Amino acid sequence: MRFCSVFLVFGLAAAMGVSHAADLPPRESYQRPADIPSPPDNPLTIEKAALGKTLFFDPRLSRDGSMSCATCHNPGMRWSDGRILPLRADGVEHARRTPTVLNSAWLNALMWDGRAASLEAQAVLPITTAHEMNFEMPLLLDRLKDIAGYRTLFTQAFGDAGMTHKRVTQALASFQRTLVSKPAPFDRWVAGEENAISEHAKRGFALFEGKARCVACHSSWRFTDDSFHDIGLPSLDPGRGAKVPQVVIMQHAFKTPSLRDLPGNGPFMHDGSMNSLEEVVKHYEQGGIQRASRSAEMKQFELSEAERGYLIDFIRTLDGGPLDVTPPQLPE
Ligand code: HEC
Ligand code: HEC
Repeated sequence: MRFCSVFLVFGLAAAMGVSHAADLPPRESYQRPADIPSPPDNPLTIEKAALGKTLFFDPRLSRDGSMSCATCHNPGMRWSDGRILPLRADGVEHARRTPTVLNSAWLNALMWDGRAASLEAQAVLPITTAHEMNFEMPLLLDRLKDIAGYRTLFTQAFGDAGMTHKRVTQALASFQRTLVSKPAPFDRWVAGEENAISEHAKRGFALFEGKARCVACHSSWRFTDDSFHDIGLPSLDPGRGAKVPQVVIMQHAFKTPSLRDLPGNGPFMHDGSMNSLEEVVKHYEQGGIQRASRSAEMKQFELSEAERGYLIDFIRTLDGGPLDVTPPQLPE
């Protein structure tokens, strides 16, 4: 009886990954950071985030008043839109699926191809893109100046009612920095609460780091290396390759998305081409299209039906649930 329980304890320890192999990322590498980072020239304040929230939900930021940031980055849809391709993307060459803006405080290269270097720089792109909000910054500032409520909000955020391109983008960036994933069951497990995730999910995590090698690209607490890879999808979009045509491995390469708070059934990938995690895992098992640009980390492997399920159970433990954000009252 005694022997048996000792044996059980060892067996469990191995299954739970307690005996973490030396070449795997240390468990601490998954620990959530304590603070939200913000750049020195735009420190995060409650007032700037409050102004940014109002702007984010205000359709008057689009020329015809029909579209706000939240139209596509909808809090009820994990800050994306649940669509394969965004609204009005019909006929747009290489249109891409709307990514979440959750945890965007930690991004240092934004958009699927990394073409924006900061949240501040990114914010102007959707406002001025023809098939998105289709507006112009000077006209937008004129419109905002006529709204008394905005004069108050700008004064609270910046000390005076001056409305500039820079302040609009700083406020939008500040609000988005406050959108941080809630702690998920996996976080409680990393913190030492052994029963926070199921035995199946623990096996899935071992596969994630082991045989399936997902961690080669989906690393850190956000489960991304913040880098770009071609994972062999059939899409013809050159991705980051359009910026650096001479770099072979950047052709068809896209930013590694975070695996936190994924929508239940996608759509997943830059082209919205997959709608279940099972389909995603099968793609990795098979390795995708072989071409010169495909990442060397894309190696074929085989999972049993049960193992595929464990891996998906693990990914589900990265879901902390929707944020409690109530849309603001829009100022008159
Ligand atoms: C019509 C839908 C639409 C609207 C409206 C929209 N976005 Fe987006 N957003 C997208 C799409 C699509 C992308 C990815 C584009 C790409 O990579 O080429 C994106 C990317 C982003 C990203 C980068 C996220 C990442 O992971 O790199 C941020 C941040 C963002 N949008 C913020 C905003 C803000 C702020 C507004 C309002 C000013 C806004 N968006 C309005 C569709 C939209
Ligand atoms: C070579 C690096 C690499 C490896 C290895 C890798 N991924 Fe990915 N993953 C990416 C990139 C890059 C994308 C986005 C690709 C695109 O849209 O073109 C992605 C997308 C995803 C998505 C879709 C997320 C979304 O928001 O659309 C999921 C889910 C995912 N990967 C899970 C996994 C799992 C599970 C494994 C292991 C079986 C794995 N990945 C292995 C780089 C990688």
